[in-house]
Amino acid sequence: MNPETCDPRPVIVTGDRPTGPLHLGHYVGSLRNRVALQATHRQFVLVADAQALTDNAQDPDRIRRNILEVALDYLAVGIDPALSTVCVQSALPALAELTQLYLNLVTVARLERNPTVRQEIQARGFGRDIPAGFLCYPVAQAADITAFRATLVPVGEDQAPMIEQTNEIVRRVNRQAGRPLLPEARALIPETGRLPGIDGRAKMSKSQGNAVALSAPPEAIREAVRRMYTDPGHLRVSDPGRVEGNVVFTYLDAFDPDGAAVAELKARYRRGGLGDTAVKARLEAVLDAFLAPLRERRAALAQRPDEVLDLLRDGTKRAQRLTADTLEAVRDGLGVFTLAA
Ligand code: TRP
Repeated sequence: MNPETCDPRPVIVTGDRPTGPLHLGHYVGSLRNRVALQATHRQFVLVADAQALTDNAQDPDRIRRNILEVALDYLAVGIDPALSTVCVQSALPALAELTQLYLNLVTVARLERNPTVRQEIQARGFGRDIPAGFLCYPVAQAADITAFRATLVPVGEDQAPMIEQTNEIVRRVNRQAGRPLLPEARALIPETGRLPGIDGRAKMSKSQGNAVALSAPPEAIREAVRRMYTDPGHLRVSDPGRVEGNVVFTYLDAFDPDGAAVAELKARYRRGGLGDTAVKARLEAVLDAFLAPLRERRAALAQRPDEVLDLLRDGTKRAQRLTADTLEAVRDGLGVFTLAA
């Protein structure tokens, strides 16, 4: 048996759409967990360019350009190619074939009920002109997850419905195959909840203009912190301020390593006598301390794009073998005719 298939470590799969630079929301929601778990799990990370095309078919350039950018973000943040396999989704034909097979196990009504898809359709203003590929991307995501036989998927809470839908497909495949062909997967969602955008909106997203990129230069960090939503009722330094819903404090909670100092700042802010400018100055320093080493690693790697592309190629090759094995098992389990060579 090939040594890759006997690796006993549990498998993780995640991915990101290469539509722009990854940001702090990606870090808190998922990347942090991936970096922490890569030593104890067998991890696959997909640059999900095929999924990105489901709502960017008219702009493939943007997706193509961002594949390398996302790979650089991964490496900068500490995803270690010696521990994790990074691969390019569109170069894995088994994923497309699995998607095609799974589409027969899912109803359009079920897809239309997926709360994340519903919300995204709203946000994109598709009206009735929803690309079919977009409506069906949860099925493609089920292919991503099951093709590697993943049991753990570290994602932000908005992705929980995708894992639920994946497991429904897994159960259908297994029932039809009459044996436990595919494992169910569990979403690993951070307890701290999601990181809001700098404007205080629930979700950080590049398209909303409320994100801080992991590759942000110092000026961009300063500008983001300056614009950050605080307590609109906190007009004078001497006024008592609200910490709840105050994005500056939410970010300090997420990124300041000195929790005791943050607790003290919160107490002073609540009492009155602490201005937004002072809290923001601390946050700017904290974010810069966090992002500076990433920026440095990224800049060094960006000098050697060929090496990064080689990593993607190697990872994709490994993933091709694995996903092809799963496809064969699923075809067999679902009783698909195989024409002998
Ligand atoms: N839908 C995910 C997102 O938008 C990206 C993704 C694609 C993914 N394939 C995946 C996440 C597989 C987890 C597992 O963030």
